[in-house]
Amino acid sequence: MKKINKKNIDRRGFLKAGGLLAGGVVLMACGKNEIETIGEISDDEDGNAIPGESKVNPFNFETKTVLLNSGYQMPIIGIGTFMLSTAQAENSVYNALKTGMRLIDTADIYGNEVGVGNGIRRAMQDFGIKREEIFVTTKLWTSDFYRADEEVDERLQRLGLDYIDLLLLHHTAPNDIHAYQAMERGVSAGKLRSIGVSNFYEKDIDRLMKSVTIKPAVLQNETHLYNQSRSVKAHIAPLGTVMESWFPLGGRGTGISTLSRNEVVTSLATTHGKTPYQVLLRWQLQAGNIAIPGSGNASHIQEDFDVFDFELSAAEMQRLNALDRKQRFASY
Ligand SMILES: NC(=O)c1ccc[n+]([C@@H]2O[C@H](COP(=O)([O-])OP(=O)(O)OC[C@H]3O[C@@H](n4cnc5c(N)ncnc54)[C@H](OP(=O)(O)O)[C@@H]3O)[C@@H](O)[C@H]2O)c1
Repeated sequence: MKKINKKNIDRRGFLKAGGLLAGGVVLMACGKNEIETIGEISDDEDGNAIPGESKVNPFNFETKTVLLNSGYQMPIIGIGTFMLSTAQAENSVYNALKTGMRLIDTADIYGNEVGVGNGIRRAMQDFGIKREEIFVTTKLWTSDFYRADEEVDERLQRLGLDYIDLLLLHHTAPNDIHAYQAMERGVSAGKLRSIGVSNFYEKDIDRLMKSVTIKPAVLQNETHLYNQSRSVKAHIAPLGTVMESWFPLGGRGTGISTLSRNEVVTSLATTHGKTPYQVLLRWQLQAGNIAIPGSGNASHIQEDFDVFDFELSAAEMQRLNALDRKQRFASY
């Protein structure tokens, strides 16, 4: 397996020599502005989902939050900052907070944590937002797993924060368990509020759970209409772990145009007087996935947050759920 470190990946997270960096619950719409945890996952056609009792809390569409298994509330939609420079990340975070988003997703490897911190401070000052109203997620990169305790402190310094709301292991790696245990120490020390993983699948979760005490609050994986992650969601539901979707719109590149041009999506957009992107995001939320659409465009950010004035019916959700084809747009 190719050794991965910060030097041999580019800004997009792709291995410079080709390929991708080593590295991504079941709910259904019901009633008014509510999502209810259900066992629907068991109907996964690949038959390998083994859903136990779901311990994932329902999404609250009034507060736009979900109660995590860590006891903290997490916003269900926010801004992603992959591919954004420090200056772009600062502006996107500022615009996201201005528009009402309260969730921010960054990562060590994006190289923009300083910009994210600046955007947070600027928005707090200009809009009177309190730190405790903002939920900041960042991630530990694999090459830093061996020194994860120090990384937590450096991360706090770079972001200019006293605590991080959610820290994720970005990918599996040989010493990921040690890194997760360091994150557990970070929770005990009050530096981290919730911890979780990204790009972990069923076997990775099982391996993790054998050696750690804090259940992941969140699993952040590539999840969208064409790759609905049903099996792994069924697997993490008994842990109370919530799915958070990266590439919620399909990602930069062919994914977003493929999903936004899908006929079911465009017809539902017309029905509801919304854009295809808003339908894609509303599906995410009603499917029980936290969504972090990435954007460097202020009007797109506003549009992405404007998904709480319409609701997809159960029949419409079914039409969208039927589009799952386990097609990923990232190659890792
Ligand atoms: N854990 C992981 O391994 C991992 C991997 C990838 C991503 N992530 C996280 O997940 C976040 C989301 O993924 P992503 O940003 O790669 O992909 P994405 O959110 O699926 O798509 C981003 C693309 O959507 C466009 N867009 C956003 N809102 C739009 C709108 N309303 N109308 C038209 N276009 C719109 C953006 O363009 P504009 O900039 O022009 O708006 C950008 O090209 C990332 O930013 C990052 O925080 C995590």
